[in-house]
Amino acid sequence: MPRFTPRLPQVIRSVLFLSAITLSSAQAAEKIDLIIDTDPGADDVVALLLALASPEQLNVRAITTVAGNVRLDKTSRNARLAREWAGREEIPVYAGAPRPLVRSPIYAENIHGQEGITGVPVHEPAKGLEPKNAVNYLIETLTAAKPGSVTIAMLGPQTNLALALTQAPGIAKGIKEVVVMGGAHFNGGNITPVAEFNLYADPHAADVVLKSGVKLTYIPLDVTHKILTSEARLKQIASLGNTAGKLVGGILNEYVKGDMEHYGLPGGPVHDASVIAYLLEPGLFTGREVNLVIDTREGPTFGQTIADWYNTLDQPKNAFWVENGNAQGFFDLLTARLGRLK
Ligand code: BDR
Ligand code: CA
Repeated sequence: MPRFTPRLPQVIRSVLFLSAITLSSAQAAEKIDLIIDTDPGADDVVALLLALASPEQLNVRAITTVAGNVRLDKTSRNARLAREWAGREEIPVYAGAPRPLVRSPIYAENIHGQEGITGVPVHEPAKGLEPKNAVNYLIETLTAAKPGSVTIAMLGPQTNLALALTQAPGIAKGIKEVVVMGGAHFNGGNITPVAEFNLYADPHAADVVLKSGVKLTYIPLDVTHKILTSEARLKQIASLGNTAGKLVGGILNEYVKGDMEHYGLPGGPVHDASVIAYLLEPGLFTGREVNLVIDTREGPTFGQTIADWYNTLDQPKNAFWVENGNAQGFFDLLTARLGRLK
């Protein structure tokens, strides 16, 4: 039987070619324009490596640092270390706020060690900080940005963005979404019985960001305490055999010990990396729109996040609250992406 191979008319071929180009530029446009605001922090470093290993999905425009887990000079050094370990020295790092808006500073050296990174040696990275302050960088970048175009991964206290929003409220319109690691509703806190560290370290800043009306997603302890390391998962990472696998294996082995002991958990959470995983593969997570209130009053509930999960008060929804996640999916994604690094 003669085979009939249809020859498409030139006009149809041109249309198909053009739509292929349009499709690839649409895919390119879907790349997330991202600023990572962070206080490294052992789990922040894992989050940074995951983000920096994903250039086809994330256009990381800058890393901005804040005091949190340790002092600002150390969080800024550790952000530059993560950038060096990922081989992404072209990404600028800007240092921001050295202390919270109102409250006195607190740190988490008991969890992250004196240097802010557990389990592996640290050194002074070759490449330095940008001269500009992170708050000025945020104001200039978000002012110049197309409306609703920049996503912010918020991995520490929200001081930098709160200062930027206070000085230049108009920058809110450049923001597409802020994805926050922070808060605790069902799970209880990790720094007080009800408050999570990032919120407790600067609740006034979190409140400024909440009240600015930007689109907010919260990745609280409720979900990060369901995405736990295990021996098999850590082995999966270490057996990558590359430097990144060894680093993350070393960091996590040490980092998870405190939480495993404190909560009697079979493994430990890798909090901040869930923010990046959410951006890369949102299907791994589930949650719902809620009304969120942050308690900034002095007292036993200082820094608590109250998420009206059941809409009991019928108040306007102001945040997407993530409540569950696919733990194995998270570790498979993390392992695969770390495998791309040296
Ligand atoms: C959060 O607090 C910090 O210690 C971690 O880096 C994470 O951002 C978890 O409560
Ligand atoms: Ca952090």
